[in-house]
Amino acid sequence: MQERELRGAVALCHYLLRQRLKAGDHAIDATCGNGKDTLLLAQLVGPAGRVWAFDIQAEAIARTSLLLAAAGCATQVSIRAAGHEHLGEWVSEPVQAVVFNLGYLPGGARQVTTLPDSTVAALGQAAALLAPGGTILVAIYTGHGGGSEEEAAVLAWAAALDPLAFHVWSLRQLNRPAATPYLLMVERGRPGRSKG
Ligand SMILES: C[S@@+](CC[C@H](N)C(=O)[O-])C[C@H]1O[C@@H](n2cnc3c(N)ncnc32)[C@H](O)[C@@H]1O
Repeated sequence: MQERELRGAVALCHYLLRQRLKAGDHAIDATCGNGKDTLLLAQLVGPAGRVWAFDIQAEAIARTSLLLAAAGCATQVSIRAAGHEHLGEWVSEPVQAVVFNLGYLPGGARQVTTLPDSTVAALGQAAALLAPGGTILVAIYTGHGGGSEEEAAVLAWAAALDPLAFHVWSLRQLNRPAATPYLLMVERGRPGRSKG
């Protein structure tokens, strides 16, 4: 396979997902938007796996459905027209990965964005569903109105996670402007492994 450059937060997110997910796994796309993250998750878990994808905009649901159908990956994805703050009502199985791509729908309504309270509520539910070794990846954008408040809420949530249970990483590009999107990674530890 051709090597991909890690040009930004989404590229790094996809790189990490490729390292982590395998056929038969379970994953959640908490903000399916145009469907690119959902499609990668569906390809990685394959027909034996399951992906749950959430969005509050009909346009996003439609775009994601079309993309999945065109790629022949629709059968392994449950798309929910629901806020991710309700994801715990839809998913009860342990999951290996959860993706959040915050902000507004590219090519859609810019005033409809993810919001601090619902994002943090969804993150809490996602963390509760994480299997040992499972990963939450959050692409954080501060460039839109309310983005900085959401960033602060997400970072406060992440910083308060029990360090004995979760490994929390902030993955930033140090040679880019401060407002450049970046990735937050939360990994649930595996019981009995304390070093390394
Ligand atoms: C940056 S876009 C996601 C991009 C997408 N992951 C992709 O690959 O194209 C953010 C999305 O979050 C959605 N969103 C906003 N609030 C939400 C909520 N409470 N629950 C689920 N989705 C939400 C928006 O409608 C928008 O489509």
